[in-house]
Amino acid sequence: MTGASGRMDAGRGQALADLSVTVPVASPGGRYDIRIGPGLYRSLGDQLRQAFGDSPRSVVVVANPKVASLYAAAVLAGVAAAGFRGHLCLIPDGERYKTLRTAARVWDDCVARRLERRDLLLALGGGVVGDVTGFAAATYLRGVNYVQLPTTLLAMIDSSVGGKTGVNHRAGKNLIGAFHQPALVVADLETLATLPRREWNAGWHEAVKYGVIRDADLFARLEARLPLALRRERPWDWLAEVIADCCRIKAEIVARDERESGERKVLNFGHTVGHALEAVTAYRRFRHGEAVGIGMVAACQIAVRLGKLSEAEAARVERLVQRIGRLPNTEGIAMPALLAAMKQDKKVARGQLRFILPSRIGFADEQAVEAESVIAEAAAAALETFSRRRR
Ligand SMILES: NC(=O)c1ccc[n+]([C@@H]2O[C@H](COP(=O)([O-])OP(=O)(O)OC[C@H]3O[C@@H](n4cnc5c(N)ncnc54)[C@H](O)[C@@H]3O)[C@@H](O)[C@H]2O)c1
Ligand SMILES: [Zn+2]
Repeated sequence: MTGASGRMDAGRGQALADLSVTVPVASPGGRYDIRIGPGLYRSLGDQLRQAFGDSPRSVVVVANPKVASLYAAAVLAGVAAAGFRGHLCLIPDGERYKTLRTAARVWDDCVARRLERRDLLLALGGGVVGDVTGFAAATYLRGVNYVQLPTTLLAMIDSSVGGKTGVNHRAGKNLIGAFHQPALVVADLETLATLPRREWNAGWHEAVKYGVIRDADLFARLEARLPLALRRERPWDWLAEVIADCCRIKAEIVARDERESGERKVLNFGHTVGHALEAVTAYRRFRHGEAVGIGMVAACQIAVRLGKLSEAEAARVERLVQRIGRLPNTEGIAMPALLAAMKQDKKVARGQLRFILPSRIGFADEQAVEAESVIAEAAAAALETFSRRRR
């Protein structure tokens, strides 16, 4: 890599190609590399060979029709170059298809292609494809290797790292699943060029999250460069560096707490209110990242009210969230419904809501919040910030 990015490689990982960064992950469930850079699919054959030798025979590439039409040819060429037999398994596009039924389609293909233990699944797409494919890989023959090929910003910095896999149930999101670490993650930044603008913007909220919870320097870099980054222009090194930093933060946390018994919960910053916003709008109004953006502003407001965070720092978070771009209107969201949805969320212990709250930009931890009035006021303030009435 050039300049700052080259420096980043020193001691942290090894550069694969000139512009790529490697983040090594060591979690109890497995060690693997995350490779980030433009044009990485062109060397996919070598990377697969390096990671798996000549042991796999067959590889099933899972994708939805949209992403497959853009990138499956390049990925299947990489699989062939590695000397493996590749098959494409198409699954429908959308969160509503993140179901056991879709996972069964992947299992069916694995059975039809007679995949064995030594064989591989490749998840080519966003978080939906990654979660379903990871779950199919966790369960087929009691577990086969899989590779994440994330094609959304959210998947690159969040869902492809950490080994949480699963599908939704009628009763709620991600209720059925397994921890199963990928054996390799290859994030080709060139795929981001075709990502719809709204998906691209939504992913940036999760990047802001990493800055607030663990990395003041990352936060400051986002403040300085986000408007440029949002234009999705070259050079790629800044983007590769930011994505690598997000992955590194997640990987470090997952290495210490793979199963979310403690520290991993910090990754849920902004998610208690965020998930509630998604739920009360029937998952139709907000992209996940957008709801998290508003949720982070609400969590900062709670922290300010508890005297944990300064108003100035909360204002910085709010400004950065706003700069990512216009968010859906929050008008008409009723506070009692929002509070009820928060209580449905997993982070309730003995009837008390728990939040991830920052004490400064760069550090956050979990805290029970007793006073419901504080939560309601803070959430109302955040909703007001993003209400069309105010614009
Ligand atoms: N496992 C985890 O740790 C974890 C973490 C966060 C989120 N998730 C899950 O991730 C999912 C959300 O992922 P997402 O935001 O990537 O959404 P997504 O997978 O639905 O992708 C968003 C849309 O972008 C399209 N798309 C993807 N890549 C593209 C590209 N390069 N060019 C053009 N279009 C492209 C997809 O077809 C889809 O329509 C949720 O189900 C969430 O629960 C999982
Ligand atoms: Zn999230």
